[in-house]
Amino acid sequence: MANFLVVYFSETGNTRYVANRIADYADADLEELKELDPKSPFRVFKTILGMKTKVSKAYRDPNDYDIIFLGSPVWAMSLVPALRGYLSDNPLVSKKLALFCTMNSMGSDRVFRGMRGATKKCRILGELAVKEDELGFQAVVDDRIEEWVNSVRSRPQELIPL
Ligand SMILES: Cc1cc2nc3c(=O)[nH]c(=O)nc-3n(C[C@H](O)[C@H](O)[C@H](O)COP(=O)(O)O)c2cc1C
Repeated sequence: MANFLVVYFSETGNTRYVANRIADYADADLEELKELDPKSPFRVFKTILGMKTKVSKAYRDPNDYDIIFLGSPVWAMSLVPALRGYLSDNPLVSKKLALFCTMNSMGSDRVFRGMRGATKKCRILGELAVKEDELGFQAVVDDRIEEWVNSVRSRPQELIPL
């Protein structure tokens, strides 16, 4: 049976909410990234420049898992530096990935592009972008997340082209 890991960063809880639902539906382990210098005033600047920040050491070894869900908020239309830090410390090569993000309104495409660029030769099984206002309708968003998790689980061999 496939086993799953959800790796994510969340500053205000939205991405954590989605990560927890994914973990519920996929029966996955969770790895929440913690920045060593949280809420740095330079974080937006670093995001725009595509820089990484240092995160605490991972508890889980991603190599122990068949499918890894990667989650990030959208910051300045981009992937957060904490995720870049994690992917630098834990290079994911030739893994099966599913990508998700939360946002106010826009920028998911660039976040997914950033994740793809930082994970070499990985198979991307799906992408899910959740807007903040959707989180106000819990039953609806939960259904959407569950449907997405099931679609990821049902096509583990499929490669979505870069
Ligand atoms: C520094 C910063 C930059 C942001 N930039 C964007 C953006 O470019 N586009 C967008 O739609 N939302 C943007 N947001 C909103 C977040 O993506 C949104 O609130 C997200 O759900 C936060 O996730 P979290 O609660 O897991 O931290 C930004 C938020 C912060 C704090």
